[in-house]
Amino acid sequence: MPEEKKGAAEAEDLSLPAPKWDNPSVPVHPLNGERYTSREFFQKEFDTVWVKSWLLLGRESEIPTPRTYQVENVGPESILMVRQEDYSVRAFFNVCQHRGSRLTFSRDGETDSFTCPYHGWEYATDGRLIKAQDPEDFPRNPCEYVTLVELKCELFAGFVWVNMDTDCVSLREFLGPVWEDWERYQPNDWQRFTAMTVNVPCNWKVLQDNFCESYHLPTVHPQLRESHEESYQKTSFDVCSEGHSRMIMLGATPSETQYGPKPPLTEGLSERLKLWDLDPADFEDRALEARKALQQQMREIGSERGHTHYENLRDEQLTDAHMYNIFPNCSLTFGADGVLLQRMTPHPTDPEQCVFDHWYYAFMPPNGEDVLRAQTNVRVDAKGAEQEFFDYGDRPMGIIPDQDVAITTGQQLGLRSRGFQRATAAGQEDRISWLHSIIDEYMNGQRP
Ligand code: FES
Ligand SMILES: [Fe+2]
Repeated sequence: MPEEKKGAAEAEDLSLPAPKWDNPSVPVHPLNGERYTSREFFQKEFDTVWVKSWLLLGRESEIPTPRTYQVENVGPESILMVRQEDYSVRAFFNVCQHRGSRLTFSRDGETDSFTCPYHGWEYATDGRLIKAQDPEDFPRNPCEYVTLVELKCELFAGFVWVNMDTDCVSLREFLGPVWEDWERYQPNDWQRFTAMTVNVPCNWKVLQDNFCESYHLPTVHPQLRESHEESYQKTSFDVCSEGHSRMIMLGATPSETQYGPKPPLTEGLSERLKLWDLDPADFEDRALEARKALQQQMREIGSERGHTHYENLRDEQLTDAHMYNIFPNCSLTFGADGVLLQRMTPHPTDPEQCVFDHWYYAFMPPNGEDVLRAQTNVRVDAKGAEQEFFDYGDRPMGIIPDQDVAITTGQQLGLRSRGFQRATAAGQEDRISWLHSIIDEYMNGQRP
């Protein structure tokens, strides 16, 4: 690290790998099919896990000014997030307190108040009832005491998080070691570039399980060998007592395991080198050295190109994929300049369906779109992409998500079968067992 670097990471050797998490021992979980298909399980899971966990729900930059709001559904619940006059964000159940109508059916917008479509009760953006029809016909004017029901709400990493349990721990406590890792990226201002929300015919855990293991990469995503070392023996896995997990996979590294000891300099890696003013010809016979060279170069000239957050990032954060499975339902893969958010939420009533969000947020460097495009293999749309809604199969999502979802919808069919009793999972699939063990602890009343 150059001498003149300042900031929080000043005294730290950024060439060192991330510290290990506390890694409690992970019990092997049978992962039987019933967990993914039974209505009883589904209902109990919602009532114990979903209503007691911090949920990553919205994005601060999408409700930037007072009176802007965003609505997100979680299973049968609908939650309204509203930017307040003092720029804080508050969250409310999207339900009218007169006789229970859903208050708004719009997904986002800007408003001075919310008016119920049924009898016209009107609520201020801070949740107070400000108008009721025929107030004299009530024993006491409802405007004197009725408010929307509020949820716990906190902001972190540019996201809006909510918890339906008013006795919950702080978000920081819930996230544990994740907090410190994410702060380094300074992702608060990253903008959305892709936002696809897709109805998928599988239980939400089938997708989250898939994102908790890299065992499927060589078979389902063979193209990843061009940019990542997929071998589990060269990948770092962690779980933490708080219930989350992390995987760090070597990036800017054509797979030695797949190609043999002298992997080729792939096209994608050549492009990445050029982007940082390195000559691919220098790495023609030594592709495995490109990763270190990139790290040095990004550290050297990143700041002057506007990537000031590199000063806080560890070398491995500059090039490697850092994937976080946040309990219960989110997987976020961080690169140096962007994060892929994959989020699964349950269908309101059917255990064999879910809603899958595939969103990408990125740092917009001063030198523009080309740099952004090269940062990621995710499809990059126009700046601040509009959210798209569709059913799986109606149109492509992109190569990698289409590969994942095709597999998981097929797995759901098998999980329903009498012919499947329990999983026979590899060690590198421990993070799935961890997710399910934590779910069981919530369902048994041992957590939170
Ligand atoms: S249910 Fe909302 S005003 Fe009656
Ligand atoms: Fe995958």
